[in-house]
Amino acid sequence: MAREATIPLGRLPKDYRTNMGPAMARCYGDYGPIFQIPGLADHYLFVIGPEANRMVLHTHREAFSTAVGWGEILGLGEHLGQGLLSMDGVMHGDHRRMLNPAFAVGHLSEYLQVMQRIIQEAVTDWAVRGTVDVYEEARKLTFAIAAETLAGLSPGSEVAAFARLYSQLLELRNAVPVQGRDVTWHLRRDQLWEQLKELLTPKIEARRARPTDDALGMLVTARDREGQPLSNEQLIGHMNTLLVAGHETSTSLIAWFLYLLSLEPDYLARIREEQVAILGDHSTATAEDLQRMKTLGNALSEAERMYPPIPNGARGVLVDVPFREHIIPAGAKLFYSIVGSHYLKDIWKEPERFDPDRFAPPREEDTQTPYALVGFGGGPRTCIGINFAKLEIKALATHLLRHWDLTPVPGQDIRQRYDVSAVPINGIQMRLTPRA
Ligand code: HEM
Repeated sequence: MAREATIPLGRLPKDYRTNMGPAMARCYGDYGPIFQIPGLADHYLFVIGPEANRMVLHTHREAFSTAVGWGEILGLGEHLGQGLLSMDGVMHGDHRRMLNPAFAVGHLSEYLQVMQRIIQEAVTDWAVRGTVDVYEEARKLTFAIAAETLAGLSPGSEVAAFARLYSQLLELRNAVPVQGRDVTWHLRRDQLWEQLKELLTPKIEARRARPTDDALGMLVTARDREGQPLSNEQLIGHMNTLLVAGHETSTSLIAWFLYLLSLEPDYLARIREEQVAILGDHSTATAEDLQRMKTLGNALSEAERMYPPIPNGARGVLVDVPFREHIIPAGAKLFYSIVGSHYLKDIWKEPERFDPDRFAPPREEDTQTPYALVGFGGGPRTCIGINFAKLEIKALATHLLRHWDLTPVPGQDIRQRYDVSAVPINGIQMRLTPRA
């Protein structure tokens, strides 16, 4: 029997936490597309690049457990309830099929009006204040949009109550008991769940009686393969997961997107020309208008490439998987490096440079190699919120850039901090000035 080559032993560079993309691309150069890092208790593996992404996300996806990856390895567990990220196999397929219609492109224009109302109110407030931390402000904005469009909550006190509960649930995640049963932790978790149920159950019951167009309204009418509806507990688990997966991520990408654009006056001028050509004197953009804005869309893809809010996707390896001359052993913990893949020199020309035209014909660097751009994952488990997030971000950028100039406040320490998700560690302060 052929002997498999040992997976190279690697070492994470010093700038791994703050400059992860270039750091991981160097690891790729030093060790190749797969390497292992000795951890405290266990070893874990990194894979980098389109070939590895294709294996994890497509050809061998059944061998890699997302539930183990996000649940056990990254600790997104029982405090949230069950959602897509904590499911694999048939159960995942079933639930994904039930959730898909709420995120279908055709349905998104239903959400756009709510998004635009919240965006306009928020930006009016930013303008009055003149200087804002776009990261912090985007956090409030994306939460309000998600709470209304997904969970069907009313603006004002309901959204505020949900925001409070949600941040307490996330705090609980940071205090997950390492071993055994921590009675206080479980009591706290049960209390928060009771409050969540109090808030969401009337919404669920109202939709059971009369379905609505928000995501919750669509989910209560969904049926599994046995024709059964989702229970209230399952619905709440899905809502929590959608928010956790969609909130911090969109917030981080908005902040970087606006910041990158503010540094590129020539490209910004092209975005504005495109706006004038597509919108004319219409006051708001339709979903089709936003879809047609390719210059804007390419800049968003470039922000996704340079600052992907989820830097690595976690998986538990369920069975031995051959990869090149190696065997990835069952039981291993594995990360496919999204951000590392985005900085490989053989895929991306000058990867450290902001260059949205790399996504335009004739270059189209992303489509030359499938699974090169994976900021939203890929394959059947691609981010369910990808179109929702892109619509929201494009709607915000379109409204802002049409009416305001954005300038970063000088002297800031603007840096990304990479962890389970990646966020600008000190926020990003921007000044808004009205356009002539
Ligand atoms: C800029 C915004 C976003 C980014 C960068 C992002 C990124 C990702 C990535 C990389 C994955 C795949 C993770 C993996 O393979 O392990 C994913 C999955 C997922 N995302 Fe997003 N996401 C964003 C917004 C959203 C939004 C707005 C929602 C919901 C409203 C959402 C819900 C989900 C869910 C439920 C999954 C799991 C899908 C499944 O396993 O079937 N995401 N996202």
